Amino acid sequence: MKKILVTGGLGFIGSHTVVELQNEGFEVLIIDNLSNTSIEVLDKITSITGIKPTYFNIDLKNQKSVKDFFAENRVDGVIHFAASKAVGESVQMPLEYYENNIGSLVYILQEMKTNNLNNFIFSSSCTVYGQADELPITEKAPIKPAESPYGNTKQIGEEIIKDTTKVTDLKAIALRYFNPTGAHESAKIGELPIGVPQNLIPFVVQTAAGIRKELSVFGSDYPTPDGTAVRDYIHVVDLAKAHIIALKRLIDNNNKSQFEVFNLGTGKGNSVLEVIKTFEKVTGKKVNYKLVDRREGDITAAYADTNFANKELGWKAELGLDAALLSAWKWQETLE
Ligand code: WQD
Repeated sequence: MKKILVTGGLGFIGSHTVVELQNEGFEVLIIDNLSNTSIEVLDKITSITGIKPTYFNIDLKNQKSVKDFFAENRVDGVIHFAASKAVGESVQMPLEYYENNIGSLVYILQEMKTNNLNNFIFSSSCTVYGQADELPITEKAPIKPAESPYGNTKQIGEEIIKDTTKVTDLKAIALRYFNPTGAHESAKIGELPIGVPQNLIPFVVQTAAGIRKELSVFGSDYPTPDGTAVRDYIHVVDLAKAHIIALKRLIDNNNKSQFEVFNLGTGKGNSVLEVIKTFEKVTGKKVNYKLVDRREGDITAAYADTNFANKELGWKAELGLDAALLSAWKWQETLE
């Protein structure tokens, strides 16, 4: 049975990917420092698949801990989710973001090289495109100067990986997520925002649940059909499945080059108001909201051109916005 290390494997996308890896017969090792999740997620994963992943409470900023892990554990692939990911927070705490997101990545790649481990999947983001000049966005769209230290760590991370694949046997795939959302159908795992949610859908869900009084819609004067900003909301389970396909591509050596990038989205854009209306339709719940000024740093619109992932990976998002929003609500109902 092939062994896969999933860093950040108790997080939102990480936990859903661990479930899909186990469903596909992989043995999973998880490293997570619990900085943005809780240990209960480990039991929830186990209750879904019946298999308990091997868990290591390691902080990847600790180079010796990373060295020790790889000296003691041989794996067939690494899927690297662990990173700080709050855009606004990264503006306030750049050094913590560069230390955590870049430092950890370098330590992992160093130990993979030392131990001759060569299959690496990197969690990247459509944020690297900024406001793309053309929509939908292809992998060939220019990388724009990052709007935040968080976005910069994704751009720099991809460069570090690309440079490393040129001079080692490392084979890597960077997956650029659009807007991950939704939850597993079991409603046992989902997005666990700590504190006030920064992202739209957790805020919508918490407003419907009465936890938040009112949703602020950031901007209604964008050049879009209804004036609110457009994003590509991809179901987290579709996203998780893409990681398994990308991993198999590396293990089976079907990758066309040492470093590949794929956009992971549905290919469809939805505005903030469309998300609210769709949520109310599928759940029957009301969402109180008000239109306010734009949020600093936000772009007008982003949605993926999915042809490359469809053709090369043979992957296509199967779940739409309705399913994503309903699953997010069902997950929220378990939290109350
Ligand atoms: C979506 C839309 C907001 C909250 C970011 C990162 C990206 C990824 C996903 C980590 C925007 C609007 C939001 C609210 C609102 N993060 N909004 N009221 O900014 O597209 O992407 O999160 O991987 O890398 O850049 O996602 O969910 O914050 O916002 O009106 O209370 O909802 O203005 O138009 P975003 P988001």
